[in-house]
Amino acid sequence: MQFLNLLSVIALYTSFNLVNGSPLANPIGSIINGGTPLVPNLAPALSNNTFDYVVLGAGTAGLTLAARLSQDGKSSVLVIEAGGDIDYNAVPKEFSQTPGGDVVGCGSADSDFIQNDIDWGYKTVPQAGANNRRIRYARGKVSGGSSTRNFMLYQRPTIGTMDKWVDLTGDQSWSFKNTINFFKRSMTFTPPNHALRQESPAAQYDASNWGSSALTAPLQVTFPHLPQNFSKYMQLSANEVGTPTTQSFNGGVLNGIQYAPTTMDPKFNHRSTSHAFLDDAQGRSNFHSYFQTYAKRIIFTKDGNTPRASAVTISTLPNGILETDIVYARKEVIVSSGAFGSPQLLMVSGIGPQAQLQKFNITPVVINENVGKNMQDHIFFGPSYKVDPALKTFTELAANPVFLATQLVNYTAAALGPLTNNVADMLAWERIDPVTLASIGASKLLTYPSDWPFLEAFSAPGAVGDFSNLLATNAEMGADGSRFSTILMALVAPQSRGTVTLASKDTSDLPIIDPAWLTDPVDQKVAIYAFKRARQYFAAKAMAPILIGNAKTAETLPGSDVQTDDQILNWIRNNLMTVWHASCTCSMQKKELGGVLDNKLQVYGVNGLRVVDASSFPVLPPGHPQSTIYMLAERAADLILAARG
Ligand SMILES: Cc1cc2nc3c(=O)[nH]c(=O)nc-3n(C[C@H](O)[C@H](O)[C@H](O)COP(=O)(O)OP(=O)(O)OC[C@H]3O[C@@H](n4cnc5c(N)ncnc54)[C@H](O)[C@@H]3O)c2cc1C
Ligand SMILES: *[C@@H]1O[C@H](CO)[C@@H](O)[C@H](O)[C@H]1NC(C)=O
Ligand SMILES: *[C@@H]1O[C@H](CO)[C@@H](O)[C@H](O)[C@H]1NC(C)=O
Ligand SMILES: *[C@@H]1O[C@H](CO)[C@@H](O)[C@H](O)[C@H]1NC(C)=O
Repeated sequence: MQFLNLLSVIALYTSFNLVNGSPLANPIGSIINGGTPLVPNLAPALSNNTFDYVVLGAGTAGLTLAARLSQDGKSSVLVIEAGGDIDYNAVPKEFSQTPGGDVVGCGSADSDFIQNDIDWGYKTVPQAGANNRRIRYARGKVSGGSSTRNFMLYQRPTIGTMDKWVDLTGDQSWSFKNTINFFKRSMTFTPPNHALRQESPAAQYDASNWGSSALTAPLQVTFPHLPQNFSKYMQLSANEVGTPTTQSFNGGVLNGIQYAPTTMDPKFNHRSTSHAFLDDAQGRSNFHSYFQTYAKRIIFTKDGNTPRASAVTISTLPNGILETDIVYARKEVIVSSGAFGSPQLLMVSGIGPQAQLQKFNITPVVINENVGKNMQDHIFFGPSYKVDPALKTFTELAANPVFLATQLVNYTAAALGPLTNNVADMLAWERIDPVTLASIGASKLLTYPSDWPFLEAFSAPGAVGDFSNLLATNAEMGADGSRFSTILMALVAPQSRGTVTLASKDTSDLPIIDPAWLTDPVDQKVAIYAFKRARQYFAAKAMAPILIGNAKTAETLPGSDVQTDDQILNWIRNNLMTVWHASCTCSMQKKELGGVLDNKLQVYGVNGLRVVDASSFPVLPPGHPQSTIYMLAERAADLILAARG
């Protein structure tokens, strides 16, 4: 029975891939350039190339930045990317291009590593906070970077969060008020299509959070054509247990529950990524991109006594084994290789902790103990309940081949149905009151700005458990006709801090990732509280109509025998998953606070070098980072062009 199940999952998966043009065989090359084998676009690079700006990494920040730097036609720009290029204007070619498939291929287990042609395949070291499990950590290795892998949720930080950025950088220009136009600049917003969605209560938004409708910025933000059936019940339950409905998550306040906008195009409900900036830039004669090309090392010359980043060695071999060429930067090198890649590149180039450089015999350029430290991330986990099969859940898609096949056609032909939905479409934010904080031993969180939420709840219409492989888990648990829904709770004021260190002095070897999740005792207390809070949602009257049985009997994972704080914490350790928000590993902070970058994203101690991506964050904002990364890239482009003179 189980075996048959597995077979049907594989058959489904294969057919899904075939429909979407990406057969399982030939993982490298098949998806790129519309299926033709990949030929590195390198001919012009092979002899002594010089550009004004060289951007390392064509990810979320990198493509946005490179496109903006080239926009006025005055500067020559090269962007280098280790992964290949995907044609986003074509029919979706990957699970992850279909909103409903975003949860596939990002699981914690090796068995879910099916998108190895667009993913780095990172895996953490054993996590003490997670009962020594090693967890796979999805990261895009492709044009668009991790904006190609994410769940598309688009939401901005709070006003107080950005005040914290001001404190840590000593620079008023990072305040919410002073950055809001950079947040707005990347995107075109389209209101929810209520005629298609037919949801009640309807999704709300605040038009003043967005640019004028005449703006046609590259990135598209809208709502899926179909909401999740479960989300309405979550919203009404939240209201009942003290989390009110709010209008917007994009005006500087995160408090209450609502549907989240998503980075999706309004017409076809395809994923929208930073590739939209590449589409704009590609026709410019001053814009250049090399895909399947690794940045290997930044080369420094001297500006008087100060080292200047003036070139980058690159490799064009598929696995990046040899340094085969060099590119020169007349003005600046900008590292946008992500929270893992950027500290790695600095360290292999001689900027990092002394012990790291010594260990791998790297010639020091600047000793800075902070590179690769201070890693911040969010984790989530939550109980799963058996629900009315009339709800169209992810379990239905995973366990019912006929439904999946019909909805694939519905999506590709008409841009309708559940596959238009990014799965987790409803979010809620809340603080914890001071008395409760004191009673659980977490008063430390009171030092946060007063508008900073401590918990984020996600609707997750399916069974989740340890997030090992959602497709397989739901196919198996749903085989007998059962359907499930989960509320995932994320810790959005985490105290634990992790590290990125080198495994070798070569960027073709993955760095060592140690997020150290749940190692801080305050995080453990808040996690137990969060888990109990999720149970409160399910115990609300508004949830009763969809639960099979009552809130006790419907709870399938972990089940109502998990009751004491110790049992709950142990279950969380066995099931917690990253929300993939790794950040702050090359932090922009005042030097005396332990920074790597100054308030203009320039690397301390050298000239001509900035880091612009999630690694540059001074502190990780509550919730989903992509809005802040686009803002950072937009602002960096302004700073760099202003310095051009
Ligand atoms: C499964 C998943 C779900 C997520 N869900 C959400 C969500 O719903 N909402 C949200 O806001 N955020 C979400 N995130 C997080 C968000 O997508 C990331 O924080 C963001 O995309 C990171 O952007 P970046 O520019 O820092 O790095 P990336 O976008 O990862 O870009 C780094 C780029 O550098 C390239 N690179 C690295 N090293 C080298 C090298 N040596 N040479 C050349 N190129 C190199 C990489 O291949 C990559 O393309 C999610 C992430 C994942 C993985
Ligand atoms: C590379 O270009 C620079 C500047 O144009 C020139 O001085 C140098 O000789 C060139 N080197 C090679 C190997 O062509
Ligand atoms: C599911 O959602 C759709 C669209 O909003 C709605 O028409 C349908 O009645 C819902 N089904 C259930 C069981 O709630
Ligand atoms: C496609 O999805 C829509 C909801 O968006 C639904 O009303 C319609 O029945 C679906 N079509 C098929 C063939 O399932």
